[in-house]
Amino acid sequence: MDMIIKGGTIVDCASDRLIKSDIYIKDQKIFEIDEEINEKGVEVIDAKGYFVIHGLVDAHVHFREPGYEYKETIKSGSLAAAKGGYTTVAVMPNTNPVIDSVEHLNLLKEIIKRDACINVLPIGAATIEEKGYQLTDIEKLFKNGIYGVSDDGQPIMDKKLMKEATITSNNLGIPIMIHSEDKRYVNNGCINEGKISDRLGVKGISRKAENNMIARDIELAKEFDLSVHICHVSTREAIEMIRNAKGSGVKVTCEVAPHHFSITEDIIIEKQSIGKVNPPLRTEADIQAIIEGIKDGTVDMIATDHAPHSKEEKLKDLEQAPFGLSGIELALPVTNINLLNKGIIDIFKMVRLLSINPSKLLGLKDRGIYKEGIADLAIIDLDSEYTLKEENLISKGKNTPYIGEKLKGKVKYTIVNGEIVYREDKQCL
Ligand code: DOR
Ligand code: ZN
Repeated sequence: MDMIIKGGTIVDCASDRLIKSDIYIKDQKIFEIDEEINEKGVEVIDAKGYFVIHGLVDAHVHFREPGYEYKETIKSGSLAAAKGGYTTVAVMPNTNPVIDSVEHLNLLKEIIKRDACINVLPIGAATIEEKGYQLTDIEKLFKNGIYGVSDDGQPIMDKKLMKEATITSNNLGIPIMIHSEDKRYVNNGCINEGKISDRLGVKGISRKAENNMIARDIELAKEFDLSVHICHVSTREAIEMIRNAKGSGVKVTCEVAPHHFSITEDIIIEKQSIGKVNPPLRTEADIQAIIEGIKDGTVDMIATDHAPHSKEEKLKDLEQAPFGLSGIELALPVTNINLLNKGIIDIFKMVRLLSINPSKLLGLKDRGIYKEGIADLAIIDLDSEYTLKEENLISKGKNTPYIGEKLKGKVKYTIVNGEIVYREDKQCL
């Protein structure tokens, strides 16, 4: 239905200006942007006091379907994403089956077509079953609709294979999204190796696991003039390496997850396996380094690595529970509290980190609010404060340490292709 978003403040990243204007959405497109628009027979959305932003884009989520529907489905994940203000997400291929063939990709595409209420873009696996031994047919997957290549959840230990996957992805113009984890330093660990692993008497993962692989792949990018994208960066050393690489012209981009700039490993004492994630929660010094990286542009984007798991799985002890935090509904408030409210970034940078830059990475055109543009928008209230309750979460994954915590910032409406897919009081239409 056609609609007018009335009285909102548009966050315009093209001009870095806040613009008080109405937006008229007609035939699913942005038809007009003007100070005052009145039209009969259209739905009017009152956006007074709220920001209107380009819909958020998450380059890295796990929606678990096909195969692990008890953790999340395309339907539940996309509803949760819409609630988080997201209009587009890229889904990682570590499903069952892994998205490593056109047959599996077509299966996923069918589910997306049937059930997704936002844009859900498939990422294809780099190697068969994400085992790291045999490359998938990346070109064929690309022709059938993948937006990136990743063995997320698993590293590609073989440097030659990584090089080949990177060259092919680069030639096709899609990102290679790297899960950096040198298995030789994981040591069956379940949390960051350090004071908390010592205190709890559990095996830690050395930070070398992440650092070594990032060093390897920066080297690869440098040596062969290739582009690489590093997923979920979590250590201060990695930030430093990426900063230096960018400084010397290496084509490397990276993302950080909200939990890695907002919570330290200490939370595991209280929340146990809920705080188990890969890469692990680290230290205050790592958080500070990530924040510096966000400030100076070393960090290109925020991606949630939304990794829902069942309650039963997360009730297991630290060694047995699976890695992952559910995060897609909380990225906006967590970024609001930890970055925007502290003056570390401004609202334009927030929208760049959460929308414009991931959009670029995925090669999307819809990167702003402009006349004739795609009507993918979120209307947000950054002042609203509340305590997060489990029943507030739409995702099947309730595995977030933020339950019971005070948050600030809410999504009022999410609009995809000119249709309201989330409003605070209702859900998908
Ligand atoms: O914590 C994580 N969970 N890290 C990953 O890399 C994979 C993800 C998952 O699939 O659960
Ligand atoms: Zn992931």
